[in-house]
Amino acid sequence: MFEHLPGFRDFYPEALTKRNHIFGIIREVAERFDFSEFDSPVLEPLDLYLEKSGEEIVSQLFHFTDQGGRAVALRPELTPSLARLAGAKAESLKKPIKWFHLGEHFRYERPQKGRLRSFFQFNADILGETDPAADAEVIALLISILREFGLEQDHFRVRLSDRVIWSLFLESRKIPETQKGEILAIIDKSGRRKPEATKEAMEAVLPEQSDDLLGGIEELKAVNNVESVVEMLKSFSLEIGDPADQRATDWQRLMASLESMGYMESVAIDLGIVRGLAYYTGFVYEVFETSGDSRALAGGGRYDHLVAKLSGGDTDLPATGFALGDVTLADCLEKNGLLPELSGGPDLYLVTAGEKERNVALHDASLLRQAGYSVGYALREQGFGKQFREAGKSGADFALIYGEEEVAASQVKIKDLASGMEETTESKALLEQLLAIEEAGGIAPNS
Ligand code: HAM
Repeated sequence: MFEHLPGFRDFYPEALTKRNHIFGIIREVAERFDFSEFDSPVLEPLDLYLEKSGEEIVSQLFHFTDQGGRAVALRPELTPSLARLAGAKAESLKKPIKWFHLGEHFRYERPQKGRLRSFFQFNADILGETDPAADAEVIALLISILREFGLEQDHFRVRLSDRVIWSLFLESRKIPETQKGEILAIIDKSGRRKPEATKEAMEAVLPEQSDDLLGGIEELKAVNNVESVVEMLKSFSLEIGDPADQRATDWQRLMASLESMGYMESVAIDLGIVRGLAYYTGFVYEVFETSGDSRALAGGGRYDHLVAKLSGGDTDLPATGFALGDVTLADCLEKNGLLPELSGGPDLYLVTAGEKERNVALHDASLLRQAGYSVGYALREQGFGKQFREAGKSGADFALIYGEEEVAASQVKIKDLASGMEETTESKALLEQLLAIEEAGGIAPNS
């Protein structure tokens, strides 16, 4: 027997019903925020990810050379594909572009709790707008989705940070542009490493300045409110002037938008979040459960130059967005009892006495299916008792009984499988009667 590959999942119908339920809610909220769904291939040119996505993701690529000699990769994330699509039609697309995507991604990671090799992401991005209002809109969508599932303020936090602050900080310390990337990567890892390991890594890059720089980094990581962010930026502006002042205004605008929409309680400032992906240029964030016992539920940020990089500088489109993963989200909902038991059964189950009655029932099944009902029945002839047991197990709301007596009188018996109540109706009035029963919420005791 073959098994699925490590880190991949089979979705048996019950599991797929859950996944579809989750995706249905996400789609609905995204549409409420006026985002449009798009799709792109799962297999892309390998080059799309090299350099643009960052070292970690590149080391996790599933890639191969196809029969035509092309180097290709299964998408590990959506952002480069999105940038490719939007960049190709940047002139003609109405701005801002507000797009979302639900699809499968592949990373060769060590399978563990919350991390697999195949997983689904919901991506939502706004392209064509530099204003922090766009960052606020995607963050609002993310929080709104989590709340729609029933997660409350104390379940999760959007940990908000800013690559610009880090860049201005390094500039104020006269760190050369060429070393910024390496230092940002050290800061990114510092939350997960022992302090000695961070110090060692920093010393390898900046032997002279490492202590001083690490002190400054710790100070920044301790900032946890917008007033301190603004104060910090003002202190940088003494060194580097306007850009730091402008950034303070951006922060105030972002926070004011989130406050007005009622999402601020779900946001915590945490400049320790730097994000591993190479293309981020502005606000960045990750969402974690407050219980602290899982990997990130979502991550995102602004990436203003990715479209330009991918189009060789022909087109520039500022962009901001996030991805929410299905693995950690489903674990979190399950743990908090927020995934309902979903029955995948039919609405109606037909129970028939014999060959003749079965033919009448099959005729009705077609009419009922055309009218939108989901209808099930035993494919082989079976005794009444067995069929009733199957009807009960099927998850159907009603059994439709085609006994000899009923069929001879052109009637059908409807049995409410929840209450056990029954009523008989004329065959030709079956649809009408079912609607009336549904409207009444079931078969009434004296009908
Ligand atoms: P990311 O932080 O790499 O960002 O992934 C976002 C989310 O995808 C994670 O928080 C996690 O829920 C899920 N995820 C990632 N890797 C795995 C895995 N191996 N197993 C299960 N779930 C996983 C990005 O992908 C960016 N492209 C997001 C983005 C969109 N930035 C701007 N727009």
